[in-house]
Amino acid sequence: METSDVANDLADILVTEEEIHAKLAELSRQIEADYADREILLVGVLRGAVMVMADLARELRAHVEMDWMAVSSYGSGTKSSGVVRILKDLDSDLTGRHVLIVEDIIDSGLTLSWLLENLRSRGAASVEICALLRKPDAAKVEVPVKYIGFDIPNDFVVGYGLDYAEKYRNLRAVAVLAPHVYS
Ligand code: XMP
Ligand code: MG
Repeated sequence: METSDVANDLADILVTEEEIHAKLAELSRQIEADYADREILLVGVLRGAVMVMADLARELRAHVEMDWMAVSSYGSGTKSSGVVRILKDLDSDLTGRHVLIVEDIIDSGLTLSWLLENLRSRGAASVEICALLRKPDAAKVEVPVKYIGFDIPNDFVVGYGLDYAEKYRNLRAVAVLAPHVYS
């Protein structure tokens, strides 16, 4: 596949690589200040949050641990069902830990509100959320997000960890797919 084939699939670049990194630096400064006297356990949600986790963790000038969860809230389509299954659980014991969930995107909010309750019930001292993207117009439940990157329109987006049929995760920017890709 030629590089230009990928570019042809994109309708619009919503957030550039530079904008992502500037925002992650800004959020990292807030996180460092907020957690100055507490050690953070970053919990990344597989697979979409891999890029955010990698860049946020390296931006943070603090000791952090990283753990991962995989959850599924989608059937075959692109709509959240609200029924969340744990596909891969954490390895860490959360008792007394300060957990910061790292997510790629908040769409309906159903996945994260479920995850928040789930992790809180495990005895964590605190659980907060950092998400790169949020679609305010798609919200079905309000999720208390402490650290948010960008509010974006209610379009299906790919790149920087986000996929369409497992492709485009490796794009450096966040983009809207061209209509011809769906048809
Ligand atoms: P909810 O609706 O529960 O969904 O907030 C969160 C999860 O849904 C996925 N998602 C997307 N994936 N482009 C994607 O590639 C999108 O526009 C999109 N919207 C939601 C994503 O896995 C997220 O964690
Ligand atoms: Mg995800």
